[in-house]
Amino acid sequence: MIQETAVIRQINRFRADLFSVMLECPLIARQSKPGQFVHLQLPGIPQVLLRRPFSIAGVYKDQIKLIVRIVGAGTQGFADFQVGQDLDVLGPLGAGFQYKKLKFAYFLGGGIGAAPLLFLQDELNKKGIPSQLFIGARLQDEFPLEEEEIIQRNVIVCTDDGSYGEHGFVTQSFEKQISNGISPQSSAFSCGPVPMMREAARICKKYELPHQVSLENRMGCGIGVCQGCALKVQEEGHRGGFQLICLDGPVFDADAINWDLIEN
Ligand SMILES: Cc1cc2nc3c(=O)[nH]c(=O)nc-3n(C[C@H](O)[C@H](O)[C@H](O)COP(=O)(O)OP(=O)(O)OC[C@H]3O[C@@H](n4cnc5c(N)ncnc54)[C@H](O)[C@@H]3O)c2cc1C
Ligand code: FES
Repeated sequence: MIQETAVIRQINRFRADLFSVMLECPLIARQSKPGQFVHLQLPGIPQVLLRRPFSIAGVYKDQIKLIVRIVGAGTQGFADFQVGQDLDVLGPLGAGFQYKKLKFAYFLGGGIGAAPLLFLQDELNKKGIPSQLFIGARLQDEFPLEEEEIIQRNVIVCTDDGSYGEHGFVTQSFEKQISNGISPQSSAFSCGPVPMMREAARICKKYELPHQVSLENRMGCGIGVCQGCALKVQEEGHRGGFQLICLDGPVFDADAINWDLIEN
Protein backbone atom coordinates (compact mmCIF):
# COMPACT_ATOMS: atom_id res chain seq x y z
CA MET A 1 0.00 0.00 0.00
CA ILE A 2 1.24 3.45 -0.94
CA GLN A 3 0.20 6.89 0.26
CA GLU A 4 0.78 9.32 -2.56
CA THR A 5 -0.12 12.90 -3.43
CA ALA A 6 -1.96 12.65 -6.72
CA VAL A 7 -2.68 15.48 -9.12
CA ILE A 8 -6.05 15.73 -10.85
CA ARG A 9 -5.29 15.83 -14.58
CA GLN A 10 -8.82 15.67 -15.96
CA ILE A 11 -12.41 15.77 -14.73
CA ASN A 12 -15.15 14.95 -17.20
CA ARG A 13 -18.80 15.31 -16.15
CA PHE A 14 -20.38 13.20 -18.86
CA ARG A 15 -23.85 12.68 -17.39
CA ALA A 16 -25.88 14.52 -14.76
CA ASP A 17 -24.66 12.41 -11.83
CA LEU A 18 -21.57 10.78 -13.30
CA PHE A 19 -18.06 11.98 -13.89
CA SER A 20 -14.65 10.48 -14.61
CA VAL A 21 -11.36 11.61 -13.11
CA MET A 22 -7.79 11.06 -14.25
CA LEU A 23 -5.38 11.13 -11.30
CA GLU A 24 -1.65 11.27 -11.83
CA CYS A 25 -0.08 9.04 -9.17
CA PRO A 26 2.79 7.11 -10.76
CA LEU A 27 3.64 4.88 -7.78
CA ILE A 28 0.07 3.70 -7.30
CA ALA A 29 -0.56 3.41 -11.05
CA ARG A 30 2.45 1.12 -11.45
CA GLN A 31 1.22 -1.33 -8.80
CA SER A 32 -2.51 -1.32 -9.52
CA LYS A 33 -4.25 -4.53 -10.53
CA PRO A 34 -7.83 -4.96 -11.80
CA GLY A 35 -10.32 -5.20 -8.96
CA GLN A 36 -8.29 -3.05 -6.57
CA PHE A 37 -9.40 0.33 -5.29
CA VAL A 38 -8.04 3.60 -3.93
CA HIS A 39 -9.07 5.44 -0.78
CA LEU A 40 -9.26 9.20 -1.30
CA GLN A 41 -9.10 12.05 1.13
CA LEU A 42 -11.55 14.66 -0.16
CA PRO A 43 -10.39 17.95 1.39
CA GLY A 44 -12.49 21.05 1.96
CA ILE A 45 -15.85 19.27 2.35
CA PRO A 46 -16.88 19.91 5.98
CA GLN A 47 -19.22 16.87 6.33
CA VAL A 48 -16.65 14.46 4.91
CA LEU A 49 -13.95 13.43 7.34
CA LEU A 50 -13.32 9.82 6.33
CA ARG A 51 -11.66 8.79 3.09
CA ARG A 52 -13.90 7.54 0.28
CA PRO A 53 -13.19 4.32 -1.70
CA PHE A 54 -13.30 4.16 -5.52
CA SER A 55 -12.47 1.29 -7.89
CA ILE A 56 -9.61 1.73 -10.29
CA ALA A 57 -11.34 1.81 -13.68
CA GLY A 58 -8.15 1.90 -15.73
CA VAL A 59 -4.44 2.68 -15.70
CA TYR A 60 -2.92 4.90 -18.40
CA LYS A 61 0.86 5.19 -17.86
CA ASP A 62 1.23 7.33 -14.69
CA GLN A 63 -2.48 7.98 -14.31
CA ILE A 64 -5.40 6.04 -12.91
CA LYS A 65 -8.98 6.55 -14.02
CA LEU A 66 -11.95 6.65 -11.65
CA ILE A 67 -15.61 6.79 -12.61
CA VAL A 68 -17.74 8.36 -9.91
CA ARG A 69 -21.46 8.52 -9.27
CA ILE A 70 -22.67 11.44 -7.18
CA VAL A 71 -24.60 10.05 -4.21
CA GLY A 72 -23.77 12.31 -1.27
CA ALA A 73 -21.68 15.17 0.06
CA GLY A 74 -18.28 13.60 -0.69
CA THR A 75 -18.92 12.70 -4.31
CA GLN A 76 -20.81 15.98 -4.88
CA GLY A 77 -17.83 17.95 -3.57
CA PHE A 78 -15.41 15.78 -5.56
CA ALA A 79 -17.23 16.69 -8.79
CA ASP A 80 -16.39 20.35 -8.17
CA PHE A 81 -12.66 19.79 -7.68
CA GLN A 82 -10.37 21.44 -10.22
CA VAL A 83 -7.76 20.13 -12.63
CA GLY A 84 -4.31 20.63 -11.08
CA GLN A 85 -5.59 20.08 -7.51
CA ASP A 86 -3.68 17.66 -5.23
CA LEU A 87 -5.37 14.71 -3.54
CA ASP A 88 -4.05 12.40 -0.86
CA VAL A 89 -4.53 8.84 -2.15
CA LEU A 90 -4.02 5.46 -0.46
CA GLY A 91 -3.71 2.52 -2.78
CA PRO A 92 -3.80 0.22 -4.50
CA LEU A 93 -5.94 -1.53 -1.88
CA GLY A 94 -7.65 -4.90 -1.62
CA ALA A 95 -7.37 -8.15 -3.50
CA GLY A 96 -8.20 -7.98 -7.19
CA PHE A 97 -9.63 -10.41 -9.75
CA GLN A 98 -7.99 -13.77 -10.49
CA TYR A 99 -7.67 -14.38 -14.21
CA LYS A 100 -4.79 -16.74 -14.89
CA LYS A 101 -5.50 -19.46 -17.51
CA LEU A 102 -8.60 -17.60 -18.66
CA LYS A 103 -9.59 -17.91 -22.33
CA PHE A 104 -12.79 -15.83 -22.31
CA ALA A 105 -14.50 -13.47 -19.85
CA TYR A 106 -18.13 -12.45 -19.36
CA PHE A 107 -18.47 -9.14 -17.53
CA LEU A 108 -21.70 -8.05 -15.86
CA GLY A 109 -21.75 -4.47 -14.63
CA GLY A 110 -24.68 -2.82 -12.93
CA GLY A 111 -24.43 0.97 -13.16
CA ILE A 112 -21.26 2.37 -11.62
CA GLY A 113 -20.30 -1.25 -10.79
CA ALA A 114 -18.91 -1.46 -14.32
CA ALA A 115 -15.83 0.56 -13.22
CA PRO A 116 -13.51 -2.26 -12.03
CA LEU A 117 -14.57 -4.50 -14.92
CA LEU A 118 -13.30 -1.97 -17.47
CA PHE A 119 -9.80 -2.20 -16.04
CA LEU A 120 -9.89 -6.00 -16.17
CA GLN A 121 -11.19 -5.93 -19.74
CA ASP A 122 -8.27 -3.65 -20.72
CA GLU A 123 -5.78 -6.05 -19.15
CA LEU A 124 -7.30 -9.05 -20.93
CA ASN A 125 -7.29 -7.14 -24.23
CA LYS A 126 -3.54 -6.59 -23.83
CA LYS A 127 -3.13 -10.36 -23.48
CA GLY A 128 -5.37 -11.04 -26.49
CA ILE A 129 -8.08 -12.65 -24.33
CA PRO A 130 -11.57 -11.87 -25.70
CA SER A 131 -14.51 -10.93 -23.51
CA GLN A 132 -18.11 -9.77 -23.62
CA LEU A 133 -19.19 -6.88 -21.47
CA PHE A 134 -22.83 -6.49 -20.41
CA ILE A 135 -23.75 -3.27 -18.63
CA GLY A 136 -27.14 -2.42 -17.24
CA ALA A 137 -28.59 0.78 -15.85
CA ARG A 138 -32.05 1.87 -14.84
CA LEU A 139 -32.19 4.43 -17.61
CA GLN A 140 -29.94 5.95 -20.26
CA ASP A 141 -28.92 8.92 -18.14
CA GLU A 142 -27.48 6.56 -15.50
CA PHE A 143 -25.30 4.70 -17.98
CA PRO A 144 -21.70 4.80 -16.68
CA LEU A 145 -19.92 4.99 -20.04
CA GLU A 146 -19.80 7.55 -22.82
CA GLU A 147 -21.18 6.64 -26.25
CA GLU A 148 -17.76 6.31 -27.86
CA GLU A 149 -16.53 3.84 -25.26
CA ILE A 150 -19.73 1.79 -25.46
CA ILE A 151 -19.07 1.26 -29.16
CA GLN A 152 -15.34 0.71 -28.78
CA ARG A 153 -15.87 -1.97 -26.10
CA ASN A 154 -18.77 -3.54 -27.98
CA VAL A 155 -20.92 -3.39 -24.84
CA ILE A 156 -24.30 -5.12 -24.66
CA VAL A 157 -26.35 -2.31 -23.17
CA CYS A 158 -29.47 -2.99 -21.09
CA THR A 159 -31.83 -0.58 -19.39
CA ASP A 160 -34.66 -1.42 -17.01
CA ASP A 161 -37.09 0.82 -18.92
CA GLY A 162 -35.86 -0.12 -22.42
CA SER A 163 -35.03 3.52 -23.20
CA TYR A 164 -31.57 2.49 -24.34
CA GLY A 165 -30.22 -0.83 -25.64
CA GLU A 166 -31.99 -4.05 -24.67
CA HIS A 167 -35.06 -3.86 -22.47
CA GLY A 168 -34.53 -5.69 -19.18
CA PHE A 169 -31.87 -6.73 -16.74
CA VAL A 170 -28.27 -7.37 -17.64
CA THR A 171 -28.55 -10.86 -16.15
CA GLN A 172 -31.31 -11.74 -18.65
CA SER A 173 -29.13 -10.81 -21.64
CA PHE A 174 -26.23 -12.68 -20.10
CA GLU A 175 -28.26 -15.85 -19.57
CA LYS A 176 -29.68 -15.63 -23.08
CA GLN A 177 -26.14 -15.60 -24.45
CA ILE A 178 -24.64 -18.38 -22.34
CA SER A 179 -27.68 -20.64 -22.81
CA ASN A 180 -26.50 -20.94 -26.44
CA GLY A 181 -23.12 -22.24 -25.33
CA ILE A 182 -20.27 -21.20 -23.08
CA SER A 183 -16.77 -20.51 -24.32
CA PRO A 184 -14.19 -22.97 -22.94
CA GLN A 185 -12.08 -21.89 -19.94
CA SER A 186 -14.29 -18.87 -19.37
CA SER A 187 -15.30 -17.08 -16.18
CA ALA A 188 -17.84 -14.45 -15.26
CA PHE A 189 -17.03 -11.30 -13.29
CA SER A 190 -19.72 -9.08 -11.85
CA CYS A 191 -20.02 -5.86 -9.90
CA GLY A 192 -23.13 -3.84 -9.21
CA PRO A 193 -26.24 -3.90 -7.03
CA VAL A 194 -26.56 -6.96 -4.79
CA PRO A 195 -29.75 -8.31 -6.48
CA MET A 196 -27.90 -8.28 -9.81
CA MET A 197 -24.87 -10.13 -8.43
CA ARG A 198 -27.09 -12.60 -6.55
CA GLU A 199 -28.95 -13.40 -9.77
CA ALA A 200 -25.66 -13.62 -11.71
CA ALA A 201 -24.44 -16.08 -9.05
CA ARG A 202 -27.56 -18.21 -9.49
CA ILE A 203 -27.16 -18.29 -13.28
CA CYS A 204 -23.43 -19.08 -13.13
CA LYS A 205 -24.08 -21.93 -10.69
CA LYS A 206 -26.76 -23.33 -13.03
CA TYR A 207 -24.34 -23.29 -15.99
CA GLU A 208 -21.29 -24.28 -13.87
CA LEU A 209 -19.46 -21.14 -14.85
CA PRO A 210 -16.81 -19.82 -12.39
CA HIS A 211 -17.83 -16.42 -11.11
CA GLN A 212 -16.09 -13.68 -9.16
CA VAL A 213 -17.90 -10.71 -7.65
CA SER A 214 -16.65 -7.34 -6.46
CA LEU A 215 -18.53 -6.22 -3.35
CA GLU A 216 -18.98 -2.82 -1.78
CA ASN A 217 -19.64 -1.75 1.76
CA ARG A 218 -19.31 1.38 3.83
CA MET A 219 -15.62 1.67 4.68
CA GLY A 220 -13.73 3.27 7.52
CA CYS A 221 -10.01 2.67 7.33
CA GLY A 222 -9.86 0.68 4.07
CA ILE A 223 -6.80 -1.22 5.31
CA GLY A 224 -8.11 -3.94 7.63
CA VAL A 225 -7.88 -2.12 10.97
CA CYS A 226 -11.38 -0.91 11.96
CA GLN A 227 -13.30 -4.13 11.05
CA GLY A 228 -16.09 -1.89 9.77
CA CYS A 229 -16.45 -3.76 6.47
CA ALA A 230 -16.66 -7.32 7.85
CA LEU A 231 -18.76 -9.73 5.82
CA LYS A 232 -20.10 -13.14 6.93
CA VAL A 233 -19.09 -15.76 4.38
CA GLN A 234 -20.00 -19.41 3.74
CA GLU A 235 -16.88 -21.06 5.14
CA GLU A 236 -15.33 -20.72 8.57
CA GLY A 237 -12.02 -19.13 7.63
CA HIS A 238 -9.19 -17.57 9.57
CA ARG A 239 -11.52 -14.80 10.80
CA GLY A 240 -14.18 -17.17 12.15
CA GLY A 241 -16.35 -17.02 9.05
CA PHE A 242 -15.89 -13.31 8.46
CA GLN A 243 -13.90 -11.61 5.72
CA LEU A 244 -12.95 -7.97 5.41
CA ILE A 245 -14.14 -6.44 2.17
CA CYS A 246 -11.25 -3.94 2.15
CA LEU A 247 -8.50 -6.48 2.72
CA ASP A 248 -9.71 -9.97 1.72
CA GLY A 249 -11.88 -8.45 -1.04
CA PRO A 250 -13.45 -6.50 -2.57
CA VAL A 251 -13.29 -9.41 -5.05
CA PHE A 252 -14.58 -12.79 -3.84
CA ASP A 253 -15.50 -16.07 -5.40
CA ALA A 254 -19.30 -15.87 -5.73
CA ASP A 255 -19.64 -19.33 -4.12
CA ALA A 256 -17.96 -18.04 -0.96
CA ILE A 257 -20.69 -15.48 -0.42
CA ASN A 258 -23.71 -16.20 1.73
CA TRP A 259 -26.16 -14.25 -0.44
CA ASP A 260 -28.99 -14.61 2.10
CA LEU A 261 -27.03 -12.55 4.61
CA ILE A 262 -26.20 -9.63 2.32
CA GLU A 263 -28.56 -6.68 2.38
CA ASN A 264 -29.75 -5.31 -0.95
C1 LIG B 1 -14.39 -1.09 -2.85
C2 LIG B 1 -15.32 0.03 -3.27
C3 LIG B 1 -15.25 0.52 -4.55
C4 LIG B 1 -16.09 1.56 -4.96
N1 LIG B 1 -15.98 2.02 -6.22
C5 LIG B 1 -16.74 3.06 -6.61
C6 LIG B 1 -16.58 3.60 -7.93
O1 LIG B 1 -15.75 3.16 -8.73
N2 LIG B 1 -17.38 4.66 -8.26
C7 LIG B 1 -18.30 5.18 -7.40
O2 LIG B 1 -18.98 6.15 -7.76
N3 LIG B 1 -18.48 4.67 -6.17
C8 LIG B 1 -17.71 3.64 -5.75
N4 LIG B 1 -17.86 3.14 -4.48
C9 LIG B 1 -18.88 3.75 -3.61
C10 LIG B 1 -18.35 5.09 -3.07
O3 LIG B 1 -17.28 4.84 -2.21
C11 LIG B 1 -19.47 5.81 -2.32
O4 LIG B 1 -20.51 6.12 -3.21
C12 LIG B 1 -18.93 7.10 -1.70
O5 LIG B 1 -18.04 6.79 -0.67
C13 LIG B 1 -20.09 7.92 -1.19
O6 LIG B 1 -19.57 9.06 -0.56
P1 LIG B 1 -20.48 10.35 -0.37
O7 LIG B 1 -19.86 11.20 0.69
O8 LIG B 1 -20.78 10.99 -1.67
O9 LIG B 1 -21.85 9.77 0.12
P2 LIG B 1 -22.34 9.47 1.61
O10 LIG B 1 -22.95 10.72 2.13
O11 LIG B 1 -21.26 8.81 2.39
O12 LIG B 1 -23.46 8.40 1.30
C14 LIG B 1 -24.55 8.70 0.43
C15 LIG B 1 -25.41 7.47 0.27
O13 LIG B 1 -24.68 6.42 -0.38
C16 LIG B 1 -24.64 5.26 0.45
N5 LIG B 1 -23.29 4.68 0.37
C17 LIG B 1 -22.13 5.31 0.55
N6 LIG B 1 -21.09 4.47 0.41
C18 LIG B 1 -21.61 3.28 0.10
C19 LIG B 1 -21.05 2.00 -0.17
N7 LIG B 1 -19.76 1.77 -0.16
N8 LIG B 1 -21.90 1.00 -0.43
C20 LIG B 1 -23.21 1.20 -0.45
N9 LIG B 1 -23.81 2.38 -0.21
C21 LIG B 1 -23.03 3.40 0.07
C22 LIG B 1 -24.93 5.76 1.85
O14 LIG B 1 -25.53 4.75 2.64
C23 LIG B 1 -25.89 6.89 1.59
O15 LIG B 1 -27.20 6.41 1.40
C24 LIG B 1 -17.04 2.11 -4.05
C25 LIG B 1 -17.11 1.60 -2.76
C26 LIG B 1 -16.28 0.57 -2.37
C27 LIG B 1 -16.36 0.03 -0.99
S1 FES C 1 -12.74 -0.62 6.25
FE1 FES C 1 -11.64 -0.83 8.12
S2 FES C 1 -11.33 -3.00 8.21
FE2 FES C 1 -12.24 -2.71 6.25
